[in-house]
Amino acid sequence: MNEQPYIIANWKLGLDYKQSQALINEVKENHVVLSTATQLVLCPSFTSIEYAVTQCSDTAIEIGAQNIYREPKGSFTGEVSVTAIQQLGCRYVILGHSDRRKHFHESDDDVAHKTKLVIEQELIPIICVGETYEERQSQQAELVVRREVKEALSLVKPIDNRPIIIAYEPIWAIGTGQAINPDQAKLMGMVIHQMLIDMYPEEMLHNFSVIYGGSIDASNVVSFVDGRVIKGVLVGGASQNFQDLRSLVLALGKQ
Ligand code: PGA
Repeated sequence: MNEQPYIIANWKLGLDYKQSQALINEVKENHVVLSTATQLVLCPSFTSIEYAVTQCSDTAIEIGAQNIYREPKGSFTGEVSVTAIQQLGCRYVILGHSDRRKHFHESDDDVAHKTKLVIEQELIPIICVGETYEERQSQQAELVVRREVKEALSLVKPIDNRPIIIAYEPIWAIGTGQAINPDQAKLMGMVIHQMLIDMYPEEMLHNFSVIYGGSIDASNVVSFVDGRVIKGVLVGGASQNFQDLRSLVLALGKQ
């Protein structure tokens, strides 16, 4: 099981093909410094996955996809299958990101089907869960997160020694520059861990890691990752240019 803290770089639709190539090249040139103390996972657009995998193949940096379709194959024009990204050399897949839940109406059922496919292909799911601002204000945050975790895992049995990552991302903290208070993140991390304890036998629990996402950068990353409750971060904005990404990795790596 990975003991280094995760830094999952979610490039979203922030970089085009050429910009992704340029950033991948910079990452590759600096791979030793970027992968000494953290597990860095780059998640570019589908079109840049193959380039990222090739460039990073002789480094400790891993590549992830930002999504897959909920069915393995069929008449689903424009979608990308889990097998396709697995064959490209991806090891990780982000699932149920709030961008997808919001703009593409992804449901808990979609996330459950995708999680199943990802685990069957022996890839590592990064399952995103988190409440809206209104839900937090009305004391619904825990309820929402519990539901999303339970549903996402409802079709799978964890396989021994295959990691499953759950990313707690309060939606109102994503891309706003206003991260949640680290203690609140840890509290939700503990809720998720307790759920997992209730759901799975003890020997399976080491498969799971909880990470935090939402306005993370080099200045605040250390206060979130304690290696016990929160084992890493999912980062959007501060992972999409080399200087910010490097500062982030160095800040966490120095701990
Ligand atoms: P952010 O995005 O770091 O820009 O807030 C996080 C995410 O969307 O996963």
